Order: sequence, then C-alpha cells, then structure tokens
Amino acid sequence: MGKKLVIGALGQVGTELIQTMRLRYGVDEVIASDIRLRAEPLDGPFLVLNALNEEALRATVKEMGISEVYLMAAMLSATAEQMPDKAWDLNMKSLFIVLDMAKDGLIEKVFWPSTIAVFGPNSEKRNSPQHGTLEPTTVYGISKLAGEQWCAYYHRRYGVDVRSLRYPGLIGYKSMPGGGTTDYAVEIFHKAIEEAKYTCFLSEQRTLPMMYMDDAIKATIDIMEAPAEQIKLRTSYNISSLSFSPEELAAEISKVVAGFQIDYAPDFRDSIAASWPESIDDSSAKTDWAWKSDFNLQKLVRTMIDGVCSLKNA
Ligand SMILES: NC(=O)c1ccc[n+]([C@@H]2O[C@H](COP(=O)([O-])OP(=O)(O)OC[C@H]3O[C@@H](n4cnc5c(N)ncnc54)[C@H](O)[C@@H]3O)[C@@H](O)[C@H]2O)c1
Repeated sequence: MGKKLVIGALGQVGTELIQTMRLRYGVDEVIASDIRLRAEPLDGPFLVLNALNEEALRATVKEMGISEVYLMAAMLSATAEQMPDKAWDLNMKSLFIVLDMAKDGLIEKVFWPSTIAVFGPNSEKRNSPQHGTLEPTTVYGISKLAGEQWCAYYHRRYGVDVRSLRYPGLIGYKSMPGGGTTDYAVEIFHKAIEEAKYTCFLSEQRTLPMMYMDDAIKATIDIMEAPAEQIKLRTSYNISSLSFSPEELAAEISKVVAGFQIDYAPDFRDSIAASWPESIDDSSAKTDWAWKSDFNLQKLVRTMIDGVCSLKNA
C-alpha cells in the first residue's frame, strides 16, 4: 500500500479530510498539496502542486510512492458562473490527468467528488433519485456531470478504480467555504457569534440538501475503504443527511444565540439553488456500502456553535 495524495488540500473539504486521514493512516502517509501556500504551515508533508501540471503530478506520484489520489481541487458553483471557461478547464483537465495516471498504472485508486449540482430544474425536487433526470444549468453542474460519466467510462474501459460521492452543501467550522452556493450555512455561524445578525444571500425558504463535514469525511473514507465489489456505481453516489432552509437554520441558531436576527438579500446564488433539489435519495449508498449519516440539525448547530466559539477564544 503506497501513500495517499490530496490535491486541493487547503480548501474547505481538504483541510478536514487531511486531518482525519492523518489520524487514521499516519501523518507521513498522507501528502497534502495545493496550488497555494497557507499562512500557518500544516503539520505533516505539504507540496505546492498545480492540478493542471501533468508532468509535475506524475513525477510526484512516482517519487513519493503514491497509490491513492483524492482530487479536491475544483472551481465551485458560484465562482464558476463568473468564469465558465476557467471552471470547465480546471474541473475537467485535472480529472483527466488523474484518471490517466490510474489508467497508466501509476496509481491504484482515485477519489473524485461530485455534487448535488448535477441535478437541475427538471429533476425531482424531493428525494431526487440516483438515476433520475440530470440536466444541470450551471457550468459547475455540467462539468461534474461530464466528470461522473468519464469516471464510469474509465472504470468500464480501462478498469480504473475511481470512486465518487455527490456531496450536498457541506458545513464545518475548521475551514471556510470556497465560492459555493451553500456557503451561507457556514458564514451564518460566524456572523451569529460575532454580531448576532446575518444577511443571507439565499431566500428564506430555499431548502437544500446539506451535510455536516464529519459525515462527508466519513463517507469519503468509507467509500475508499470499501471492497471494490461493493462499489456498484462508478459515476457517483447520492449521499444525504439533512435538508433545511435558511429560515429553519436561523430558527435553530436562535435557540442557542440570544437575540440572533437574520434578513435576506437573495442574489444570483438563489437562482442557482432554485435549480437544485430540496432532498436526494441515497438508498444506493446505504445498500451498497452501508452509508449512514450521524448528524441531525440540532446536533449540527450545537457542534458548529461550540466549534466557532472555540476558534474565536483560541
Ligand atoms: N464544499 C462543498 O459544499 C462541496 C459540495 C459539493 C461538492 N464539493 C466538491 O468537493 C471538492 C472540494 O471542495 P471544497 O469546498 O474543498 O473547495 P475549495 O474551493 O474550498 O477548495 C479547493 C482547493 O483547491 C485548490 N486549487 C484550486 N485550483 C487548484 C489547482 N489548479 N491545483 C491545485 N489546487 C488547486 C484551492 O486553492 C483550494 O484550496 C470540489 O471538487 C467540490 O466541487 C464541495
């Protein structure tokens, strides 16, 4: 078994994924990489690496004895709408570079996240099925849907062991989100604790599928550790935890933060969110590799408030 390389490790998901993987597999077994440097150094191996630099990636994988790649670098939904060409370029080219390394036998396994943005306005709004209508209207969703199909193609045609999850909007306190449509659900906690008020860029009843970061990290590790024969879908698995609107989240926060006030100034992100389902059906992930969420809304809110407070007091 070789080492594991996380590309885009300084982002919202990568930051937490690295911490959990290092506890589980050992600090030196997990190499973090990103296109940028962080102000404070990470504990453990870190490389500056551009996901679009195929030569550098191949050299790194060979020199460091990497057997698994977790490709977290991507341009997310809201930023991608501002620069569609760059988003397509980053999201697709980085995936091909990693899939080709697996096809050529340089690595054994790939994790690549997809998203609920692969759904679109014609998808079923509630409990959107694994194999339902997928007609995304954002460049982000289009790139992820194409990526899912390429993953399945590389598996079918070349036997590449690639595994993928459609993450819902992710919420955690250890890292800030990077330009997605669900970023409000992290920002709201910071503003609630700093100012006891928040102006939300989604409308009050815009319900979306969401997930606490620990659940997303657990799902990522579980799908990567599952025996290959249990991974029956090589596109990407729906995984689901909670669904709530900004209004419902604010009501739960108000139970803990005295006097918390929210108001609404919906912008272009509200139209993106309107094209996505309110909830998704994750029965395939439950059946195939025993996926199960550990968080409800109350537990999420308390964990976030404790976590953000501990950061502010540190
Ligand atoms: N955060 C969510 O709610 C969410 C939801 C669904 C899917 N996802 C997916 O999960 C993955 C990780 O998302 P995230 O929220 O951590 O994103 P993020 O924007 O927070 O982090 C992405 C990281 O990639 C790095 N990066 C950008 N370009 C790079 C390049 N060329 N080479 C190397 N690194 C580069 C960035 O510096 C950043 O640290 C993405 O594929 C995203 O589409 C995230």
